[in-house]
Amino acid sequence: MEKTDRTFEIQRHWDDIYQRSETNSLGWYEESPEPSLQLIRECGVAKDARILHVGAGATTLIDKLLEEGFGNQIATDISGQALQALRRRLGPEASQKMEWITDDLTAPSSLRGIAPVSLWHDRAVMHFFVKEEERRPYFDLLRHLVLPGGWAIIAAFHLEGAEKCSGLPVRRYDEALLARELGPEFRLARAFSYQYIMPSGASRPYIYTLFERGPV
Ligand SMILES: C[S@@+](CC[C@H](N)C(=O)[O-])C[C@H]1O[C@@H](n2cnc3c(N)ncnc32)[C@H](O)[C@@H]1O
Repeated sequence: MEKTDRTFEIQRHWDDIYQRSETNSLGWYEESPEPSLQLIRECGVAKDARILHVGAGATTLIDKLLEEGFGNQIATDISGQALQALRRRLGPEASQKMEWITDDLTAPSSLRGIAPVSLWHDRAVMHFFVKEEERRPYFDLLRHLVLPGGWAIIAAFHLEGAEKCSGLPVRRYDEALLARELGPEFRLARAFSYQYIMPSGASRPYIYTLFERGPV
């Protein structure tokens, strides 16, 4: 990854968090990533489909999908510490079945060169991109990588949700706002609100969306 000052700054923020915390105590940790699994089942991608987890952090979704036989997953995050924590939990054998990329979604470099994917999965990442100049490269990358007929799952803080996460401001969404960001090539296939319960017991309202990209 080519690093700008901004990339360094964001990376340091997230590396610090993952370095000083147990992943299962983080305010976005999911014991069971049920809403994402539900949407993945719903879009029906094949077990060998390329699935890109953007801002994967140390998500347990990857463990679950490996258990279910999804053997073509890519985990990317700006934080090398997050990906290391995930690798440690998965262990060497499962880690080898994965592709690992450290990159900044708001200034992507390595990610621009990877093969296209059938499914883009984002939970609690894009909502940090409060500036238009951060969202533009993110959505350009999404459009560059998702195959025609492919899928995008985006889960973000709901319009009535919290205004900050891990000390950073977030932009909140509903399905119409997300559809506008993706543009007319993507059809909204499903959307639902979801109350996520943090390890602290507090709740965070999310909006989950599934989009299908039209054929060329
Ligand atoms: C709230 S966590 C969510 C992690 C994971 N998706 C999950 O659901 O458990 C946000 C993640 O986005 C990553 N992230 C934040 N800004 C990023 C950027 N510009 N590029 C890539 N990853 C980023 C962080 O390192 C962190 O792992």
